[in-house]
Amino acid sequence: MKIAVVGTGYVGLVAGACLAENGNEVVCVDKDSAKIRTLQRGRIPIYEPGLEEMVRRNRTERRLTFTTNLTRGVRGSQIIFIAVGTPTGEDGSADLRHVLGVARDIARAMNGYKVIVDKSTVPVGTSEKVRDAIRRETSQPFSVVSNPEFLKQGAAIDDFMKPDRVVIGAEDPRAAEIMRELYAPFTRTGAPIMMMDCASAELCKYAANAMLATRISFMNEVANVCEVVGADVDHVRRAVASDRRIGPSFLFPGVGYGGSCFPKDVKAMLKFASSKNYDFQILKSVEGVNEKQKVRLLAKMERHFGSLKGKRITVWGLAFKPKTDDMREAPSVPLIQGLLDAGATVTAYDPEAMRVARSIFGSTIQFADKSYDALKGADGLAIVTEWNEFREPDFGRIRKLMRTPIIFDGRNLYNPEQIRGAGFTYYSIGRR
Ligand SMILES: NC(=O)c1ccc[n+]([C@@H]2O[C@H](COP(=O)([O-])OP(=O)(O)OC[C@H]3O[C@@H](n4cnc5c(N)ncnc54)[C@H](O)[C@@H]3O)[C@@H](O)[C@H]2O)c1
Repeated sequence: MKIAVVGTGYVGLVAGACLAENGNEVVCVDKDSAKIRTLQRGRIPIYEPGLEEMVRRNRTERRLTFTTNLTRGVRGSQIIFIAVGTPTGEDGSADLRHVLGVARDIARAMNGYKVIVDKSTVPVGTSEKVRDAIRRETSQPFSVVSNPEFLKQGAAIDDFMKPDRVVIGAEDPRAAEIMRELYAPFTRTGAPIMMMDCASAELCKYAANAMLATRISFMNEVANVCEVVGADVDHVRRAVASDRRIGPSFLFPGVGYGGSCFPKDVKAMLKFASSKNYDFQILKSVEGVNEKQKVRLLAKMERHFGSLKGKRITVWGLAFKPKTDDMREAPSVPLIQGLLDAGATVTAYDPEAMRVARSIFGSTIQFADKSYDALKGADGLAIVTEWNEFREPDFGRIRKLMRTPIIFDGRNLYNPEQIRGAGFTYYSIGRR
């Protein structure tokens, strides 16, 4: 099939590459000409395991091309995906400016029947707005489909190639059939293609993210209760997770959720529920708990040191989670900001997010090229992202490099007994 993907960010680029991988002819469109130039040179602007090779392979086979020319992309394609950002607007709702702007541009370029697929995460009712925006600009025939994306950054290729399910909101049988055909190769292992109305499809994505955010905030609160009653959240988590009705995913306590999706989708869902006079009480708490959890490590440091003024703190891990360089809403940001505000100096290290971090912090903090280099003369080490390379470090070397061997572990990576036995003062989340 001939496909255009408008918006070549995490979702658009992964979707474009994976659709090409299964034999489709895909043109990825973006208004960011620097990004398109990078892609045309065979390089990718983000870190996502396996993506660069897949993009290169499909470019070489001429199934995947990149352009800033939306008109060309639309005219040569039957299916057009909208995969642009839906950031949080000023009032907390999803900002649909990019989605509706692209819809209008697509309409102006149309030269025959097109299936216009909204892959961006959008509030219920957006497919109607997209339909209206297009109808105002063209008399060409078209169908609007809602196809939310559930991929996880860091495992995006696998998630797209082998999804748990494909959700398609389509009111028009012709478009539904085209979408079913498009996704058939991705669901050969038995994953269901779930056909539904557009409103339900739009809500699926928010409900899934809100549920995952709820599990995280819930478990963070359980961990906080463990601290005050003297229990160990590791034991509690394992016992709870082995209940088959509950299962083990998204139950690790830590420094709160971040990233480009959970915070904004929780906010947007609260907003569109309240715009219909529904008070989504649980979700309000989920958000409030998360904000507090993001600075919990800072509170532990303040309690330990009394004052952070003049302390040298090393931060290991800046990305909002491992295997990505994405720092949008990353818990490392308010933590570092809090440390700076309290008069500490910060040296940071992350295996992939250093370029992004430099653009956020500039010269207000120091950066180290290697994890151990960041530790020289440190009064404390804060672990914020659970990269594999932090899991089994050389503790002897760490102790020698630090001025005082104190670890504030926001991801519960180490065994408290062992690490204290190795001469460290150790704080973690929800454990003694
Ligand atoms: N990142 C994720 O893990 C993830 C997962 C599932 C769903 N989503 C949703 O997918 C959507 C996209 O997210 P993302 O993380 O890929 O965003 P992103 O910010 O990484 O990429 C968006 C891209 O769209 C481009 N763009 C904006 N306006 C444009 C226009 N008028 N014409 C052409 N290009 C334009 C931008 O230049 C950018 O490259 C969002 O709604 C998000 O909530 C994201």
